[in-house]
Amino acid sequence: MSDDVSEPQGDPATGPNETVKLQKALASRGYGSRRIVEDLIAEGRITVNGTIADLGRRIDADNDAVEVDGVPVGVAADLVWFLLNKPGGVLSTAADTHDRKTVVELVPDDVRVWPVGRLDMDTEGLLIMTNDGDLTHRLTHPSFGVTKEYIAELDGTPSRADLRQLREGVELEDGITAPAKASIVADRIIKITIHEGRNRQVRRMCTAVGFDVKRLVRTRIGPLADRQLKPGEWRRLSFDEVRKLNEATTVSA
Ligand code: URA
Repeated sequence: MSDDVSEPQGDPATGPNETVKLQKALASRGYGSRRIVEDLIAEGRITVNGTIADLGRRIDADNDAVEVDGVPVGVAADLVWFLLNKPGGVLSTAADTHDRKTVVELVPDDVRVWPVGRLDMDTEGLLIMTNDGDLTHRLTHPSFGVTKEYIAELDGTPSRADLRQLREGVELEDGITAPAKASIVADRIIKITIHEGRNRQVRRMCTAVGFDVKRLVRTRIGPLADRQLKPGEWRRLSFDEVRKLNEATTVSA
């Protein structure tokens, strides 16, 4: 057993839990060297279960809630985060009753992961797959308003008035859409950035201003983009990217 892992302490109710030094847990999650993390602790910027941590703090990485500058940080050792470029024709659910291909079949299966939010079967582009329930909640809950950017190929080119309507809000059957960004990228191609996650929202917004979406690709999730990842390819998120996602989902409305 290494110097950094304690003897099992154990809660009689839940059985023994190993603890690990806080600076080791955070350093392994990309928060810099242990020295840097020690400085963060000394500056009082890290809390464990809501209490400012001191330098000798050990944590149960699976159960304790750790925050850096108020940003929740997943420190459990078995957390994984993948970024998938979802191809068209694949379902973004964990399992399908009709035996159709799902996104979980496109990433490693040694740990059970799920897609964060949904893309329509025909929509392509970036999708996070993880077993980090806390981050999933924050990325999908409307109060955090994480922005998602899409490139949409339409059956025509919207006018300035159409774009203004997309930006200011269009009336859908489930209510008017929140302010969005929309711009022309090329003939018949627009870039649209929304921070809501309603069902088929981009397609319905485009239909509402008179256009059919021929192809829809998600190109950004909050701070996360990747132009190199090809359809069907996946990669692990770096700890730095996970940290940025945590930071992007800290302030709730
Ligand atoms: N908007 C849509 O219309 N479809 C998606 O898959 C995502 C956003």
